[in-house]
Amino acid sequence: MAEVGARPSPPPPGGLPRLLLPLDRVPPFLPPFLPPSAMTRSRQETLALRKQLIGSSCRLFFPEDPVKIVQATNQYMYDEHGNEYLDCINNVAHVGHCHPEVVKAAHQQNLLLNTNSRYLHDNLVDYAQRLSKTLPEKLCMFYFLNSGSEANDLALRLARQYTKHEDIMVVEHAYHGHLTSLIDISPYKFRNLGGQKEWVHVAPLPDTYRGIYREDHADPALAYANEAKTIIDQAHERGRKFAAFFMESLPSVAGQIIPPFGYFQKVAEHIHKAGGVFVADEIQVGFGRVGKHFWAFQLQGEDFIPDIVTMGKPIGNGHPVACVATTKEIAGAFSSTGVEYFNTFGGNPVSCAIGITVLDVIEKERLQAHALQVGSFLMELLNQQKVKHPLIGDIRGVGLFIGVDLVQNQEKRSPATTEAEFIITRLKEELIMLSTDGPGRNVLKFKPPLCFNARDAKLVVEKLDQILSDLEKRSA
Ligand SMILES: Cc1ncc(COP(=O)(O)O)c(C=O)c1O
Repeated sequence: MAEVGARPSPPPPGGLPRLLLPLDRVPPFLPPFLPPSAMTRSRQETLALRKQLIGSSCRLFFPEDPVKIVQATNQYMYDEHGNEYLDCINNVAHVGHCHPEVVKAAHQQNLLLNTNSRYLHDNLVDYAQRLSKTLPEKLCMFYFLNSGSEANDLALRLARQYTKHEDIMVVEHAYHGHLTSLIDISPYKFRNLGGQKEWVHVAPLPDTYRGIYREDHADPALAYANEAKTIIDQAHERGRKFAAFFMESLPSVAGQIIPPFGYFQKVAEHIHKAGGVFVADEIQVGFGRVGKHFWAFQLQGEDFIPDIVTMGKPIGNGHPVACVATTKEIAGAFSSTGVEYFNTFGGNPVSCAIGITVLDVIEKERLQAHALQVGSFLMELLNQQKVKHPLIGDIRGVGLFIGVDLVQNQEKRSPATTEAEFIITRLKEELIMLSTDGPGRNVLKFKPPLCFNARDAKLVVEKLDQILSDLEKRSA
């Protein structure tokens, strides 16, 4: 069995940019033994039990040959044999798997107290204060919850209470969570379920690569926003009234999309005129991932401020934490009903201690700047591949949020779904975890823990190059 945590240390590769984090950042800690369950139960036994006990709609990565992970640190995960996988996709383990400071903060607060937010506790107010420093001044009221879905469901309630309207606009292929209310506003899900509710309106995805207005359009932001305006006008004719426009600041499951600059401002203007609010879903893309900014909505320019921001996934580095930030006016309207908002676990002292520590680590390890630097390097390497491989139609991204859009045909831009599946399966054999997104499941998505480094970037692109070359040789 390979030694857990052992990683071959090649000579530093040439041409790497200076890194904010050391190139070979040593995993901060790895327990010297594997957990007993991993030693006693084989992968096949675990799989058999899972099939017997867990609902089959809870899917596995690589269902034909699933991976059993028993330990992880930084951007590396270890299976039961000690094989080390490079994690290019886990945007929850934001500051690195099992970051020791986050683990320590949870443990120390657990030793002292964990209870609900009906008692005064400094962690809750300290955390809200810390988050407010990352946001525009207007977003100064906070609610803490346990999951991204809970955050979006509360955003829905806030918007409806504030506007006294019911209808919601979302963009095509969006996903906003697994609660009934959110399946209703997630075309990615409802298109395969009960269909579209009368209070839900779907605007075209502002995708300038495969959407209705592309990179050759003079003003795609305006053109896409006009589409949303037309939908609002048509709905008004039917007597419908808008509570909100919900959008992920960078649509993820829709295929790692970068909306055109200025689109949010224009849509916000239309939705505000209709009496609704703008909800920015930052659940996948917030907390410095985009590098240039802490929040992805800030990529749209300083003149754009959402009315509600929802946060989840990376916020607790794996601990279930989520948050909704909004304005005094919206929070005031929500309170005016006199009905209490109580969330048993939301905002408990342990969750808040973890949330504060995640913010500390992002700052101390300068992970936002690191994401920008390593992300730009990865984009550069990927763009070199694009010149070589006709299967690559588009490379798009900001910071460590990157999509590689694979196409069968450069002109038609038809999704290369089978090839994408083949590539991620081959990468898995090379101990690299990558996955696909987009309606055609043809976009390779990179959204690794932010400690992902230049050496990791070089390794994954080298492997990708080999696999693409093999694929091209086969089809020649
Ligand atoms: C954009 C977006 N919003 C909301 C959610 C729901 O978050 P959770 O699974 O934590 O409930 C997800 C989860 O994948 C998401 O990607």
